[in-house]
Amino acid sequence: MHAHHSKLTAHPSGALTGTALAPGDKSISHRALMLGSVAVGRTRISGLLAGDDVLRTVAACRALGAMIERHEGGAWTVDGVGVGGLSEPAEVLDMGNSGTAARLLLGLISTHDLMAVMTGDASLVRRPMSRVIEPLERIGARFTARAGGRLPLAVVGAKSPLPIEYRLPVASAQVKSAVLLAGLNAPGKTVVIEPEATRDHSETMLRHFGAEVTVETIAGGGRRIMLTGQPELRARDVDVPRDPSSAAFALVAALVLPGSRLRLPGVGINPLRAGLLATLQEMGADIALENRREQGGEPVADLVARAGTLNGIEVPAERAPTMIDEYPILAVAAACARGRTVMRGLAELKVKESNRLAAIAEGLKANGVKFEMGEDSLTVEGSGGPPPGGGTVQTHMDHRIAMSFLVLGLAARRAVTVDDGTMIDTSFPGFAALMNGLGARITGPLLAKPKAKAAAKKKAKPKQRGRRPTPSGLAGGKRRGAKKRRGRK
Ligand code: S3P
Repeated sequence: MHAHHSKLTAHPSGALTGTALAPGDKSISHRALMLGSVAVGRTRISGLLAGDDVLRTVAACRALGAMIERHEGGAWTVDGVGVGGLSEPAEVLDMGNSGTAARLLLGLISTHDLMAVMTGDASLVRRPMSRVIEPLERIGARFTARAGGRLPLAVVGAKSPLPIEYRLPVASAQVKSAVLLAGLNAPGKTVVIEPEATRDHSETMLRHFGAEVTVETIAGGGRRIMLTGQPELRARDVDVPRDPSSAAFALVAALVLPGSRLRLPGVGINPLRAGLLATLQEMGADIALENRREQGGEPVADLVARAGTLNGIEVPAERAPTMIDEYPILAVAAACARGRTVMRGLAELKVKESNRLAAIAEGLKANGVKFEMGEDSLTVEGSGGPPPGGGTVQTHMDHRIAMSFLVLGLAARRAVTVDDGTMIDTSFPGFAALMNGLGARITGPLLAKPKAKAAAKKKAKPKQRGRRPTPSGLAGGKRRGAKKRRGRK
């Protein structure tokens, strides 16, 4: 596909209303497939994200000997080979755009007696793999990689793996998970110490499949995670929650487009992923969490968001690991907020699908938003209303940059174009269509014309008002006056 065919333009839009079904959680989807592949028996997965990143994991796990099938209605089955049972792949493992797929799989295969070659797309081959190579070499695997520990690389798995105790030098759930997955086929206890807690989906899912994992909190809020090696993993059903990192785009759009009211059912609210919710609420956002429940061992809720005024805040650096993927969309919320929003502790953003710190800054600049970028910080001056917009944003093969700046375009005075929307399919297939179904106007050569929801909505609106139940657990009737009250804070 040529880049000029994949441009997308977001036009200034009215209120978003209705229900938005975010896709399955990407992190959890990768883990369900990988653990299903080394469990004994048939694992059934519902709600799996069928985005390109996860499909790379499907292909790689198949190449390593697991039988994976997609069934009608969207459920998947994985017939696993048991711990230690993966076989040497005949083909290069191409992980596409996915750092999670690459790093977690390197961990998983590094304690198998096999040789594999791994590569990725133009974005992934720029990203550092030394952060996993280093601990996995200690376990006994050998790697030959490009300069700086980059893909493509060759790995020779350890014949006699050693359990290690490893202290994470960066707050990274991917590195933690790579070591834990490697430890599955090492005898004895593998220990990971993380000075700052990161998303714990691997620990939760390892337990779900029957592994023994103990977690202790350590001074300073970190954790010590201990896995007992060579467990017998048993196939389990997994019901994947909806991805909070994907829900974030519609959520922020609803908060900043006046008159919006949006329901986002079944979204993961794991506290180690929920930093954006806390931040938006501190900014004054009206987000209710309804029907809190558990799904696949993870906490989920239905989010109900209503538009209102947001105020700039200082986001504590310690919160970064719990919202690391959400800074691009937070920057957009900040651009619409009143006053300045300060974000710190952003060093890891530079090694994501793009250098996200630079990509956010470029995008803000192209759209007339005032900001200041530091080494690992970003300060955004909000306009307290629609930002100027009118720019074209380079996405640098980064799905979250693309979606974030499309949301900016919906809220701005003038339309915003992203140079390439194709990467959106890595995490959120159908993003533009879903947004348009809620009342947004995103156009592109490959998209169906958005329906004129505005007309239908005008008729529906008075009815909807009358029907709206007084939200229990929320200050009922607070909504109308909420804007003004918040403004005075
Ligand atoms: C992920 C961990 C995070 C996150 C990524 C998914 C995971 O990366 O940015 O999108 O599934 O473990 P790091 O571990 O590099 O922080």
